[in-house]
Amino acid sequence: MILILLGPPGCGKGTQAKRLEESRGLVQLSTGDMLRAAVASGSEMGQQAKKVMDAGELMPDEIMIEIISERIDQPDCADGFILDGFPRTTPQAEALDKLLADKSLELGKVIELKVDEEALVERITGRYSCAKCGAGYHDKFQQPKQDGVCDVCGSTEFSRRSDDNEETVRSRLAAYNAQTAEIVPYYGAKGNLVEIDGMLDIEDVTVAIQGVIS
Ligand code: AP5
Ligand code: MG
Repeated sequence: MILILLGPPGCGKGTQAKRLEESRGLVQLSTGDMLRAAVASGSEMGQQAKKVMDAGELMPDEIMIEIISERIDQPDCADGFILDGFPRTTPQAEALDKLLADKSLELGKVIELKVDEEALVERITGRYSCAKCGAGYHDKFQQPKQDGVCDVCGSTEFSRRSDDNEETVRSRLAAYNAQTAEIVPYYGAKGNLVEIDGMLDIEDVTVAIQGVIS
């Protein structure tokens, strides 16, 4: 099964992709995580990505299409994957169609998570993650069971993304509205699109997604 999780920054794509990964055995392909790994590696592309991400803008389409094209050829994607953060522009959506057609793969549902803009800002500015295993948390909405200890790996070190401040979030939202929102009707016209209320609690959103894909 190939799914796309679509929606603005902070709508819950990463949170829900990780839950589907566990329950469905699908692989989460987060282009944001891939770019952050490139930043951490210090590569030339990583240095470019750091500037673009901290400005809340988008990386060039050719780079992102190349990254995804190579990634979906890996053996762990053979049983299906969840695209989280890709495609993000019409050229990326068209390139994905072609990549899948060339590999005789069929796109399943495109799940749009709908969340109010002010809730997005609150979600993003309160987000942090485990520095060791990457498990995601939120100051208010998703706290570890034991204060300061990661539920998944027991680490006591956490980090925040450098693009998770209010100013950059506003630029990221503007980029979403200007460049990404137009792919919602693109998938609507193809008949893959399903809208889900992303304002619900995390667990209720998962239940709604499970209902759509089962
Ligand atoms: P990326 O990492 O994809 O960031 P994003 O799209 O801005 O989305 P986020 O990761 O911020 O949010 P999310 O939807 O995953 O929310 P989450 O589940 O964490 O991309 C970063 C940058 O990389 C881009 O700005 C761009 O520069 C570049 N880039 C990436 N892909 C690209 C591409 N294809 N082309 C060009 N450039 C690209 O949830 C957020 C918080 O809310 C968490 O703390 C969570 O606990 C909480 N939360 C989640 N769900 C709920 C809920 N239902 N109720 C309450 N709280 C909730
Ligand atoms: Mg994410």
